[in-house]
Amino acid sequence: MKKYRLGVLGAGNMGLAIARGAVQAGRCLPADILLMNRTPEKRAARAAEGFAVTGDAAVLYGSCEQVVLGIKPQIFDAVLPLLAADLPKEHPLVISIAAGVSFEKMEALLGADCPIIRVMPNTPLLLGLGASALVKNAAATQGQLEEVRALFGAMGMTVVFEEEKMLNEVIPYNGSAPAYVYAFIEGMARSAQAHGIERGQALELISKTCIGAAQMVLQSGKAPAELIREVCSPGGTTIEAVKVLEGAGLNAILAEASDRCIARAYELGR
Ligand SMILES: NC(=O)c1ccc[n+]([C@@H]2O[C@H](COP(=O)([O-])OP(=O)(O)OC[C@H]3O[C@@H](n4cnc5c(N)ncnc54)[C@H](OP(=O)(O)O)[C@@H]3O)[C@@H](O)[C@H]2O)c1
Repeated sequence: MKKYRLGVLGAGNMGLAIARGAVQAGRCLPADILLMNRTPEKRAARAAEGFAVTGDAAVLYGSCEQVVLGIKPQIFDAVLPLLAADLPKEHPLVISIAAGVSFEKMEALLGADCPIIRVMPNTPLLLGLGASALVKNAAATQGQLEEVRALFGAMGMTVVFEEEKMLNEVIPYNGSAPAYVYAFIEGMARSAQAHGIERGQALELISKTCIGAAQMVLQSGKAPAELIREVCSPGGTTIEAVKVLEGAGLNAILAEASDRCIARAYELGR
């Protein structure tokens, strides 16, 4: 029996959000979660929230039933060998949220018998509105996959893929997509300001419209193209805007941005 239910190696934005989400969802108490941060200041702040804390990655790896790897892809090569140096007899269930880092790479350091679930989450999970994609390696059981799915499901919606490569292919559409939406909101807000609308009002109008339009897609049963047609009365205003977006090649721009995003995920995994 391990001392902690959950450990987070690299309790940064995402790692901490997952730890807090697990508590909010009633899956465990803060004291059942061990967080690793390198600086005493961060550890003190997390301890004040009731979490157990450590500065030692190997201690965390050896004492938790499930370990979230919340570190950036670029530092896996530096951190995973520290864990491998002192491998516990029984592996924890490893949950990696890192973009691009493959099972092959992690198994080479932790052992092919180490159960690993890769998850591509996104930051709206901070609000319980996340959208996460999951895939398991050969050593992980269906039950373990369901357990991790329930954890992320408590912080938003989830999809499960069979093929590992889909965790790279999906990144533009959930992990990175909030940045696309923020860029859209910023561009629209600047345009609104140029037309005399105060920035705060513009951000609220546009953001609420994004939420409403997204709900229309989810709840109306209509395709986005049909919903566009419904807003575009012939000879009206919207059609003029849509013509500009189409003329500028919006779909091609989104496709190119997403292709580059995915290519970078494959690069990070090498
Ligand atoms: N941000 C997103 O939108 C998003 C979306 C999907 C997936 N992800 C993935 O989530 C992961 C974390 O991203 P993030 O935005 O949460 O990053 P972050 O806030 O920078 O957190 C990374 C954490 O890694 C820790 N760390 C750095 N170097 C370390 C080392 N040598 N040893 C141990 N810990 C170390 C830092 O710990 P200290 O506190 O000790 O400095 C920090 O808390 C990444 O792999 C990213 O690909 C992010």
